[in-house]
Amino acid sequence: MLHHFKKCHSQAFFIILSVSFVVTVALQLYDTYVRYVENSFFAKQMAGMPSENKSSCRLPNFSPFDPSIAKYIKSWPKINCGKPQPPLTYLDERGFLHINQTAVSERRIPWARLTCSYQKIIRQENEDSKFTLGPHKIFVQPEILPHEFCVVKCSLFPRSKVIYETGYAQVKDVTQTLANSSQRAWKNCRVNVLIIVLDSMSRLNFIRQLPKTYKFLVESLGSVVMQGLTKVGDNTYPNMLSMLSGLAAKRYLVNKELAPFWGNGSTPRGYFDDLPALWKNFSQNDYVTMFAEDYPKFTAFNYNAHGFKTPPTDYYMRPFWLAMEQIMTHLVSKDKRCFGHLPKHKFLFNYIEQFLYKMLTGKHAFFAFTFLTYLSHDHINSIKIIDDELVIYLENLRAMGIFNNTVTMIMGDHGNRMDPIRNTVIGRVEERMPFLSISIPPQLEHLRNNLQSNAKILTSWHDVYEMLMDLAMNNLNLTSKVIRYGYKGMSLFRPIPNNRTCLQIGIPKEYCICWNEEELHPKDAKTIEKGDILVNHINDIIKSKDKKKVCSLLKLVKVYGAQKLLPPHKVAVPSNLAVLTRVTILQLVEPSNAIIEGTLEQRARLGIQLVGHVSRLNKYGNQSSCVSDPALTLICYCKSRH
Ligand SMILES: *[C@@H]1O[C@H](CO)[C@@H](O)[C@H](O)[C@H]1NC(C)=O
Ligand SMILES: *[C@@H]1O[C@H](CO)[C@@H](O)[C@H](O)[C@H]1NC(C)=O
Ligand SMILES: *[C@@H]1O[C@H](CO)[C@@H](O)[C@H](O)[C@H]1NC(C)=O
Ligand SMILES: *[C@@H]1O[C@H](CO)[C@@H](O)[C@H](O)[C@H]1NC(C)=O
Ligand SMILES: *[C@@H]1O[C@H](CO)[C@@H](O)[C@H](O)[C@H]1NC(C)=O
Ligand SMILES: *[C@@H]1O[C@H](CO)[C@@H](O)[C@H](O)[C@H]1NC(C)=O
Ligand SMILES: *[C@@H]1O[C@H](CO)[C@@H](O)[C@H](O)[C@H]1NC(C)=O
Ligand SMILES: *[C@@H]1O[C@H](CO)[C@@H](O)[C@H](O)[C@H]1NC(C)=O
Ligand SMILES: *[C@@H]1O[C@H](CO)[C@@H](O)[C@H](O)[C@H]1NC(C)=O
Repeated sequence: MLHHFKKCHSQAFFIILSVSFVVTVALQLYDTYVRYVENSFFAKQMAGMPSENKSSCRLPNFSPFDPSIAKYIKSWPKINCGKPQPPLTYLDERGFLHINQTAVSERRIPWARLTCSYQKIIRQENEDSKFTLGPHKIFVQPEILPHEFCVVKCSLFPRSKVIYETGYAQVKDVTQTLANSSQRAWKNCRVNVLIIVLDSMSRLNFIRQLPKTYKFLVESLGSVVMQGLTKVGDNTYPNMLSMLSGLAAKRYLVNKELAPFWGNGSTPRGYFDDLPALWKNFSQNDYVTMFAEDYPKFTAFNYNAHGFKTPPTDYYMRPFWLAMEQIMTHLVSKDKRCFGHLPKHKFLFNYIEQFLYKMLTGKHAFFAFTFLTYLSHDHINSIKIIDDELVIYLENLRAMGIFNNTVTMIMGDHGNRMDPIRNTVIGRVEERMPFLSISIPPQLEHLRNNLQSNAKILTSWHDVYEMLMDLAMNNLNLTSKVIRYGYKGMSLFRPIPNNRTCLQIGIPKEYCICWNEEELHPKDAKTIEKGDILVNHINDIIKSKDKKKVCSLLKLVKVYGAQKLLPPHKVAVPSNLAVLTRVTILQLVEPSNAIIEGTLEQRARLGIQLVGHVSRLNKYGNQSSCVSDPALTLICYCKSRH
């Protein structure tokens, strides 16, 4: 029995041994095969790529005046509001509203028939996009305008013909409680923060269009200009969300785990009251906070979203802009950049200046986040008309003493996404690389060296978030007292190693500017095949989202351009090589003339995948007016338009 058992046992043992031998050999063979496939893929793909000895990101180094983009740089008409109405009222320095007697008599307006009144603009409770107007208050003599935001109208009796309309935004006194704490913070030498964003402004375009302002920033203010800052998402929202909260706007996997993100990834998005935006941290640290944006339809937290139920900051300009967009209907200027007889951007700049003046004279520590969209969103050239004005504006702020105790950031959120320059190599790179200049006050001089070194390496909005949190938390010694506040960035005030990858700092593959690029021939059969793959992927998106079947399916007409993107030799390994191909395709459905850019990823043993976001490089206008899903608006061409 024992013998039999032993025999059985050894037989079983033998069988197990041989099976495991076969399995091991098979695995080894398979492994050899895999390595063979990977190595030949690697050798084939990497052939011809520069073999430089560098693991860090090689930043693009284009001249803003490169001859290849010269034809896109044009002059632009100055703002000319004309005379749609006489300048019938004005506000004096003490806050008194006057009727302009000179204008009345110059225009021979019959005084006895003239009625001017003001109305308070009231933000609707728990709603970010609704407002009401208070009762008309008629005035004749100069009187104090008692409200933060007002509209003013003048009309002629008896037919109530409106002959004048405008609005006033005033920065009211800081409430007593807030005054006490913010004055304490000021006394403790807390550094203020002023942020002025010009929508869609790249570093190269700032240098091109605003040369005088650039010179003033760099030479007179000693601002440091970040040369490796790269966007983390397509448009304003994802980029500003990361800068203001340290979070990502989209769910995405890093090592099979969800990277920290905000919201539920769906559009339309909800309200943002619970967003841990860093103005809350400034508030907690006794700062007065302000948020002002000029284009209510397209503002960061309202486009495809609901904004805030309660005002996010102590001073919040949105109700004023909403009202102005709605009331300024009678006496419109021919120039769309005006409200009546006044340029729109002046309302924003006046408000910012008033706010700063109030904070300085009252000695309140402050955080101000402001955003100019009207003048720079659509075209690269349109902003140039305010170059002189901006220099004078900044000179005034300097005379006020703002820069003595304030970190000032003049910046873009991303580069232009739809100007024709976007179809060039430089335009593509600058779309991904926003402008950011940082001026620091004398008391932070010890951090300048770090800031300057970091200006030359790859950085993202997550790093800017960390720097702003340092300011909010008064963590401004040479060595930091925390590792980080958010999840991935490193403060621009601290030494940052130059070996971080795009992925590590939240820059998606399709926006990474660190790759080696090889231009592919657009008429090559393999390139056209990639174009077809991209079109199929886009059509899959349309099929899955377009439930009502109102969009045409797309057809590839032409590959406009394509590049192969590879990591540097130093860091590339066969087992993990992902080759990206960026394909730009033209005119998907006649006559839509859509230009679309997508990035495909190919690995040794996986099919070709579409990665990340598909960009539309020209305006879609109302081609997709039959759909509202933001995933479709860029790519849908409504069937009804044929
Ligand atoms: C490449 O870099 C390594 C260190 O990373 C260095 O030791 C080597 O000398 C470099 N080779 C060349 C050719 O620059
Ligand atoms: C008052 O009207 C006159 C004449 O139209 C104009 O020149 C002047 O600038 C106006 N004053 C103010 C303060 O708006
Ligand atoms: C503000 O400070 C003043 C003087 O220090 C004090 O009298 C007043 O009660 C404080 N007000 C509030 C609302 O904290
Ligand atoms: C999540 O998405 C839905 C729409 O599908 C929206 O109503 C809701 O408010 C969103 N929540 C957040 C926090 O964005
Ligand atoms: C910043 O504010 C958010 C929201 O109030 C809070 O959750 C977070 O803990 C604060 N961060 C620090 C470092 O205090
Ligand atoms: C700002 O600082 C400079 C240099 O320290 C000083 O000369 C100037 O008077 C200050 N300006 C104001 C308005 O405080
Ligand atoms: C910063 O440094 C100063 C002087 O070196 C020191 O007194 C202070 O405690 C430090 N602050 C922090 C927050 O570490
Ligand atoms: C990057 O550089 C830092 C400091 O030079 C070093 O500590 C770190 O290990 C490096 N990381 C990688 C992934 O090479
Ligand atoms: C679409 O826009 C074009 C030009 O902007 C305009 O002429 C046309 O009427 C618009 N069509 C619709 C349906 O809105």
